[in-house]
Amino acid sequence: MNYRITTFEEYETAYKQSVDNPEGFWEAIADNFTWQSRWNTVLEWNFTEPSIKWFDGGKLNITENCLDRHLATRGNKIALVWEPNDPKELSIRYTYRELYENVCRMANVLKNMGVKKGNRICIYMPMIPELTFAVLACARIGAVHSVVFAGFSAASIADRINDSLCEYVLTSDALSRGNKQIPVKAVVDEALETCPSVKKTLVVNRLNWPVHMAEGRDYWYHDEVQAVSGVCDAEVMDAEDMLFILYTSGSTGKPKGVVHTCGGYMVYAGYSFANVFQYNESDVFWCTADIGWVTGHTYIVYGPLLNGATTVMFEGIPTYPDAGRFWQVIDKHSVNIFYTAPTAIRSLMAAGVDHVLAYSLHSIKALGSVGEPINEEAWQWYNIHVGKERAPVIDTWWQTETGGVMISALAGITPLKPSFAGLPLPGIQPILVDANGEEIKENGVEGYLCIKFPWPSMIRTTYGDHERCRVNYFSTYKNLYFTGDGARRDEDGHYRIIGRVDDVINVSGHRFGTAEIENAINQNKKVVESAVVGFPHDIKGQGIYAFVILAEGEHDPKIIEAEITETVVEHIGRIAKPDKIQIVPGLPKTRSGKIMRRILRKVAEGDVSNLGDTTTLLDPAVVDAIVEGML
Ligand code: WTA
Repeated sequence: MNYRITTFEEYETAYKQSVDNPEGFWEAIADNFTWQSRWNTVLEWNFTEPSIKWFDGGKLNITENCLDRHLATRGNKIALVWEPNDPKELSIRYTYRELYENVCRMANVLKNMGVKKGNRICIYMPMIPELTFAVLACARIGAVHSVVFAGFSAASIADRINDSLCEYVLTSDALSRGNKQIPVKAVVDEALETCPSVKKTLVVNRLNWPVHMAEGRDYWYHDEVQAVSGVCDAEVMDAEDMLFILYTSGSTGKPKGVVHTCGGYMVYAGYSFANVFQYNESDVFWCTADIGWVTGHTYIVYGPLLNGATTVMFEGIPTYPDAGRFWQVIDKHSVNIFYTAPTAIRSLMAAGVDHVLAYSLHSIKALGSVGEPINEEAWQWYNIHVGKERAPVIDTWWQTETGGVMISALAGITPLKPSFAGLPLPGIQPILVDANGEEIKENGVEGYLCIKFPWPSMIRTTYGDHERCRVNYFSTYKNLYFTGDGARRDEDGHYRIIGRVDDVINVSGHRFGTAEIENAINQNKKVVESAVVGFPHDIKGQGIYAFVILAEGEHDPKIIEAEITETVVEHIGRIAKPDKIQIVPGLPKTRSGKIMRRILRKVAEGDVSNLGDTTTLLDPAVVDAIVEGML
């Protein structure tokens, strides 16, 4: 690859070029990839519809870039290291050739099941190697993958399957995380009761769990893979053909299917991986995210493999069998670049420094953070105890919608400031705007973070509802992509992300819409109405605080709380469990019926010293009652 920036001067030059001549800049980068035929135009765009086309007319298959083109030079290099949940179980290493063959085999199995280019495939699997095969196998044959994190409930899977009319589901019998074993296929079975579009499922055997296999619908992977070949031609894809859908929460109740396309996503995933992490040929890279989230898509699977890197995939959790597991795995596989989330760092910090001091960590060259703002204390702990103050700690800001890292230091190249994401990557043009949408040009300011020029891996649409994409991201401020985040820009032009400015809560780096959680809570028959807000949480970053109005009658608060929690688990998943549930007699509403969340946020934060003006409320007395019952 010819796009690695190696000095700060090169960064500055590249940045300038990318603004002066974006098309020339990206064309030169795209030339580093294998295309079956070249594009006609580099970029056509407008942010009003929006319509964004990168490398239109170009033909490619991203898996040829992740696999085939490495075979001659890296065929025996390790592509994927799989580390199981249980440290006593053996890890598995796949060379590029072995990964290629496994992907081709799974692609052939899918073809035999009738999967065609353009079909949507829901992948609901734990972090096992077959998940990586599955993602790439879909891409190989032009099927659109929609990975759903294996912690979501049956109802959530069904919503996602029905939204994009998936025809196939790839799953496993069960999963193992920490000391728990959790059913997976049974959850899929429940979801499929309400998913008429699904024709077949493919099931990977992970734990030998007894599962129900529906005749003519469910197939075991280990049976189907017996008879297929390890070679499968890559489907020829247009640059703007859909590569994947990934559902993410917004400020409305229903998660939206963010759509990424083949060409632009490939170029940016490859480019950003190499530059942000300053990846070198012999480096071992470990991103601890789950492939169910965008971080796993771009920085476990596509980004590393596009660069011929060795990528580590971990089935377990940071605290099993103890809080030293991450560090043990780093030593075991000589990981050079480690990428995790602030919430993991904070929970390991809380477990005590002895766990980390027990390991050498001498292989570490760079550390990354993603998903939420990293507080300075966590940054320092990471820097001192994990990086031993000799590895740059980079804070990478981006979103499902952006496809790859947008604002971040390039490890060891551009300057670092704790709790700042830093400077934009070349090709990325962030701006801050005020409440009227006017650009704030000077430095040392705060504003709403927008991007004013397209980049290759940006969201193209929300599946099945383009208007929603327009309204959500392109209508708040004219001719700008609005991120939903607030940010500060310091005197040196470095960005510090403050957090969401919409009704999205970021819990342990996972996004939930407040409306989405309220919808779930309201499914409980004893609930009349609810309002959910975020509050600062030591480990999770933000916690979920639910204010709930109950129907008339006697309720035991402990029982009702447990029931509400169960309702949320059932409708979304364990990850969205409220941390606090306060039963209230009413909600602070304006005369037009709008809930004043500002007041609820103050209560949730435990700071009721200045609740502001409450005179416009329909019933100001409600506020006193809420404050009195505050948790
Ligand atoms: C937040 C995850 C501060 C932000 C890649 C964004 C961050 C949302 C950072 C996207 C960071 C992500 N510092 N905040 N380094 N990274 N965020 O779609 O609010 O799961 O809008 O993508 O997470 O979350 P998503």
